Amino acid sequence: MTAFLEGMPKAELHLHIEGSLEPELMFEIGQRNGIKLPFATVEDVRAAYKFHNLQEFLDIYYQGANVLLYERDFYDMTMAYLRRCREQNVIHAEIFFDPQTHTDRGIDMAVVINGICGALKDAEQEWGMSTRLILCFLRHLSAEAAMETLQQALPFKQHIVAVGLDSSEVGHPPEKFREVFDRARSEGFLTVAHAGEEGPADYIWQALDLLRVKRIDHGVRCTEDESLVKRLIAEKIPLTVCPLSNTKLCVFDDMREHNILTLLEQGVRVTVNSDDPAYFGGYMNENFLALHEAFNLSREQAVALVKNSFEASFVSEKELFEMNRKLEAYSQVAG
Ligand code: ADE
Ligand code: ZN
Repeated sequence: MTAFLEGMPKAELHLHIEGSLEPELMFEIGQRNGIKLPFATVEDVRAAYKFHNLQEFLDIYYQGANVLLYERDFYDMTMAYLRRCREQNVIHAEIFFDPQTHTDRGIDMAVVINGICGALKDAEQEWGMSTRLILCFLRHLSAEAAMETLQQALPFKQHIVAVGLDSSEVGHPPEKFREVFDRARSEGFLTVAHAGEEGPADYIWQALDLLRVKRIDHGVRCTEDESLVKRLIAEKIPLTVCPLSNTKLCVFDDMREHNILTLLEQGVRVTVNSDDPAYFGGYMNENFLALHEAFNLSREQAVALVKNSFEASFVSEKELFEMNRKLEAYSQVAG
């Protein structure tokens, strides 16, 4: 089963590129840019990755991103993630980036986007990897700041498929960003939002009704509202669930308490994702393996989870057909 999970063609729909920055690369980039980290060694960095909630993680995650200054840095970080995708048979990835984390430090939007997109293009050309880019607004900052960020991103519109909402959830409800998301949709962007990770089920309703999102990122607290679960099933609204992230941030105390498989059995379109793999102990395969260890995942369940992510992705009908064909061919030969 381990080999089956590792070899399975997969898609990742919830990945913060800044959260893929491994300590080794963080040190390397910090050194060449003359940025001192508050840690002496890679081991010290890893030892600091013990979190009790989302905010404790975010404080360290934003600190790590401080080493990123130049186009080359964004390229190297993105390329390192895409290589992991290749190793783990992730054939399609929809990647979040947090421009405000960088523009607030005086870095140009163009530097961030050109660096990331350079790597996306090379991975597509070199090994046929398909990708999409999603711009996330930091919800702990103001709606005005988000609107300004959206405006700065308009010249790069052709590179960005959707906008999303991340960072500290509680106290920053989706309704705060209603106008920004209205504007984003009028500019042709699709929308997604983190909701129901630490925040209440009501934030999921708001994301659906006010921000008109196509997917909910995390959404695991939906189970606190039965009528919401019914709606997610009826409207086939995907949840981009991140098992290792949820246990590392104590959303669930133990993987065996995670609700992803209950939701799958109920008919919710749940998907498996890594969120911030450098911080939470693994990429896509490690997330599938952690689920397998906790629940003795069946092949049917694994394939259903991957199928959900293909169907929830923002690819064309033709690309979707091709992705499904690869998965079917794999399940037949491997199973
Ligand atoms: N930014 C990076 N990872 C995040 C998460 N899991 N929740 C909210 N914001 C994030
Ligand atoms: Zn996330």
